[in-house]
Amino acid sequence: MIHPTGGPISTGTSTGTGTTIFTEMTALAQRAGAINLGQGFPDTDGPPAMLEAAQVAIATGANQYPPLAGLAELRLAISAQRSLRYDAHYDPDTEVLVTTGATEALAAALLAHCGPDDEVIVFEPYYDSYAASIALARGRKRVVQMRPDATGRFGFDPADLSAAVSRRSRLLLLNSPHNPTGTVFDDEELAAIADCCRRNNLVAITDEVYEYLTYDGALHTPLATLPGMRERTLSISSAGKTFSATGWKVGWVCGPAALVDAVRKVKQYLTFASGPAFQAAVALGLVAEQHWVRAQAARLQASRDRLRAGLAAAGLAPYVCQGTYFLQADIRPLGVTDGVRFCRELPHRAGIAAIPSAVFYDNPADGLSAVRFVFCKRPEVLDEAAGRLTALTTLSYQEAR
Ligand SMILES: Cc1ncc(COP(=O)(O)O)c(C=O)c1O
Repeated sequence: MIHPTGGPISTGTSTGTGTTIFTEMTALAQRAGAINLGQGFPDTDGPPAMLEAAQVAIATGANQYPPLAGLAELRLAISAQRSLRYDAHYDPDTEVLVTTGATEALAAALLAHCGPDDEVIVFEPYYDSYAASIALARGRKRVVQMRPDATGRFGFDPADLSAAVSRRSRLLLLNSPHNPTGTVFDDEELAAIADCCRRNNLVAITDEVYEYLTYDGALHTPLATLPGMRERTLSISSAGKTFSATGWKVGWVCGPAALVDAVRKVKQYLTFASGPAFQAAVALGLVAEQHWVRAQAARLQASRDRLRAGLAAAGLAPYVCQGTYFLQADIRPLGVTDGVRFCRELPHRAGIAAIPSAVFYDNPADGLSAVRFVFCKRPEVLDEAAGRLTALTTLSYQEAR
């Protein structure tokens, strides 16, 4: 197993271009009949009107290649959504591109804008596709580590960000709300990032797939809306998380025409286009289902609280989560430190699957004691998982507790 930077990964769990940890843990969960709190997908469907719109679209002939840039109605809906929600304005014809999920948008953006040996600044822990896409572009990743403060919220030190910049720096990749920490980058953090981009003439790529899933009043602000950032930022999002339709893989990228055009040129040889019926349905979702999205965010906040209470009752120490589908917890209060081993054993011993946060780090040791659980599951599933975990920890980790 080879790490994207070339070295072997000691835990053998995270790979640049090999099997991902999510595949491995999902397979383990299936074999053990475990509750899968590893991979981030909901166990309930999105807004019924949107699901029906996809069926109608298929029944009425939306089954052939859509345009490379995406259906016009979806590009219009995306442009309107950015305007209404963030006062950020994009021309639907030249500044909006529909992609096969955010994953393709990220890969195409990196392939378009990162040349060999260019450096890409990434906040660590980071979502696994970033390393793979940077490696495909033959770029180099420079990480800025996020660490928990006294309250358990993960943030970064601006001095580390400055130190990560070199004369080879070309891009900065920001994911907020952030997977796996659940951090929603605040105004001060965004200002420091924008300042860094402007000073060093960096192009920013923002991954905003959890843009609607924020809790306790935390607000998502796109980096592109900060002064001087629109012209240098590609803003990426997708329908998967917003509408509980992760399998539909409808994503998009917005930005200045020249930056988007380069992404379009790469995208035409990746997938060209996909899913016209899903695109039509997502257009309807963006325009007409905002009330469903708001209600879903409230449901997810309650699910986060439920899982947090369950993990605490089982003796783990949950970190702060302001957004996303994910809650990380520190396993050291159980008297164990190796999250990779803990997660490999969990399906068989407790009937639950989770993801070791170590896989989101270049050096797995940096995240070894944290484990990531998803809470986008029905309340009864979360309760059952928490009960199983408590049964295991009471039996196996009594001394430490
Ligand atoms: C941070 C982040 N970015 C991108 C994606 C992938 O998005 P999509 O399914 O739209 O390709 C995910 C999915 O888990 C994610 O967590």
